[in-house]
Amino acid sequence: MSHYLFPSRGDMPNSRPNVVMFRRIIFTSLAFTFLTVLCFITLTVNGTLNIWFSRSGSTSESLFSLSSFDSDIHFENLRLRRSTSKLDVRIAYFIQVSTSNLHLFPRLLCNLYDTEHVYAVHFDCPCNQSAVDSIVKAIELGNFPNIHIIPHETLTYSGISLVLNTLSAMTVLLKYPAGTSNQKEWDFFINLSGSDYPLLTPCDQAKVLGEALSMIHNSTINFLQMFEHHDSDYRRSLLYLDPALTMNSLVSENCKEREALKPVQVHPFQHNFNFTLYKAEAWMILSRETVKYLTCESFPRWMLASFVNTVSSPEHYFVTVLKSSSIWKNTIYPFAFRYVRWIHPKLPRVSTQHPFELDLHEDLFWDDIYESGCWFARKFSQQDSLLQSRIDSEIAGLNSTLLKDLFQSVTLEKSFSIELLSKKKQFLEDRSLRKYFCSSPTSLSYHLNRSLETMRALITRHFSVII
Ligand SMILES: *[C@@H]1O[C@H](CO)[C@@H](O)[C@H](O)[C@H]1NC(C)=O
Ligand SMILES: *[C@@H]1O[C@H](CO)[C@@H](O)[C@H](O)[C@H]1NC(C)=O
Ligand SMILES: *[C@@H]1O[C@H](CO)[C@@H](O)[C@H](O)[C@H]1NC(C)=O
Ligand SMILES: *[C@@H]1O[C@H](CO)[C@@H](O)[C@H](O)[C@H]1NC(C)=O
Ligand SMILES: *[C@@H]1O[C@H](CO)[C@@H](O)[C@H](O)[C@H]1NC(C)=O
Ligand SMILES: *[C@@H]1O[C@H](CO)[C@@H](O)[C@H](O)[C@H]1NC(C)=O
Repeated sequence: MSHYLFPSRGDMPNSRPNVVMFRRIIFTSLAFTFLTVLCFITLTVNGTLNIWFSRSGSTSESLFSLSSFDSDIHFENLRLRRSTSKLDVRIAYFIQVSTSNLHLFPRLLCNLYDTEHVYAVHFDCPCNQSAVDSIVKAIELGNFPNIHIIPHETLTYSGISLVLNTLSAMTVLLKYPAGTSNQKEWDFFINLSGSDYPLLTPCDQAKVLGEALSMIHNSTINFLQMFEHHDSDYRRSLLYLDPALTMNSLVSENCKEREALKPVQVHPFQHNFNFTLYKAEAWMILSRETVKYLTCESFPRWMLASFVNTVSSPEHYFVTVLKSSSIWKNTIYPFAFRYVRWIHPKLPRVSTQHPFELDLHEDLFWDDIYESGCWFARKFSQQDSLLQSRIDSEIAGLNSTLLKDLFQSVTLEKSFSIELLSKKKQFLEDRSLRKYFCSSPTSLSYHLNRSLETMRALITRHFSVII
């Protein structure tokens, strides 16, 4: 899964004079954006965490520790309560699988599968159709009432079709309850790519959300990794056409990713926008109320129309809708519990549009991932990597005997094995085994503890800023 941070040089046509005029300006803003993005990205994840943790002295040894950021936040007098009451939080996961990560999907789904939650899966094209067909058939024939394959749409990464597809997934998921036998409405929506990998079991992720709910007594909370300083306004100074909107798969699938989105016109009203363009990473955790608002209400629809010709709309649309509303803007917590790395002092920068593949540099990233408190890391490219196995046992805290048992029954191949998922389901339905996928106060893993601490710090900080 790739998404553009900004259009590459190749996206600028040289035949249109009105566009040429803007090239200089664009390249200047690109350079500026590049620097801004670089600066910002070093501050994400552990940088942010260290700021929050610094007050308690439990600062981790981070690769990117930050000293210049002042945390003169007062933590006293907060209208927050910490309770230990167990909330039954349910999650709707949307997994978008692309050609480049189809081979990772069996293990991802198996690790993420839980009988309490609900799943929507979209296979982007051009995936290996025979492989996709066999997966879809296996899931449909198997007994998995909480996994829903959403109808295929042709997508242009960084185009509006990606936003439409996310909205489709939300709409589908709103129709289904979470869980297989013990069903309930889901509370949170999490959007994932096939190259993400869980650092916490879904049961433990729900626990962290439960902790948030018990602290603020309001389920309308959203987690988005915001870019506080960015210069993306040039993105709406030009008009782009998403080939996927032709609804002709031949047109859109034959468009190479780099060629798909080219500016076709200068926006005639570019100086008249009466709303701020915000930017966030496209991976998010949204509350059910928010998902209902985004899929049903008038303001988000107007915004959607406004973003149709904007490049990289997936990075801007959702956050701009929410930040532009006085009610919703205060529901955003600026951290999405996603571990992503774009730069590293010891690695050459490969691309401005793709984060590092963590499994190719396990040694460099391990400590940072370990301390991150995140629920997912991305991105992964290797099937059944050593890193995944280490994460399962040392971070997610899964029982190795049980894992061995699970994976021994099937050999993971390129093709999907429904037996693996069935066996996981069988484990989860067995009370004595389910506990190995769900931490208890007495078996709190280091990572879950770290994640809970992060959530508390995030909420505490939010209230100290708002109040
Ligand atoms: C597509 O998937 C099938 C398994 O379903 C596999 O045999 C085949 O090699 C795959 N093709 C490509 C091009 O990866
Ligand atoms: C949702 O997740 C996918 C990854 O599957 C990502 O590419 C996309 O940009 C995300 N957000 C939106 C708004 O579509
Ligand atoms: C929860 O927060 C939302 C958004 O701020 C607000 O509209 C709603 O009234 C709150 N609900 C309760 C029960 O306080
Ligand atoms: C811009 O938006 C604000 C807030 O919605 C509104 O009050 C104002 O009238 C708008 N300005 C124009 C020129 O439409
Ligand atoms: C792992 O699970 C097995 C059951 O398959 C159990 O007997 C064993 O005690 C568990 N190990 C740990 C460390 O919890
Ligand atoms: C969890 O973290 C807190 C402080 O960060 C620490 O006091 C506690 O011992 C930790 N518990 C476990 C089980 O790691």
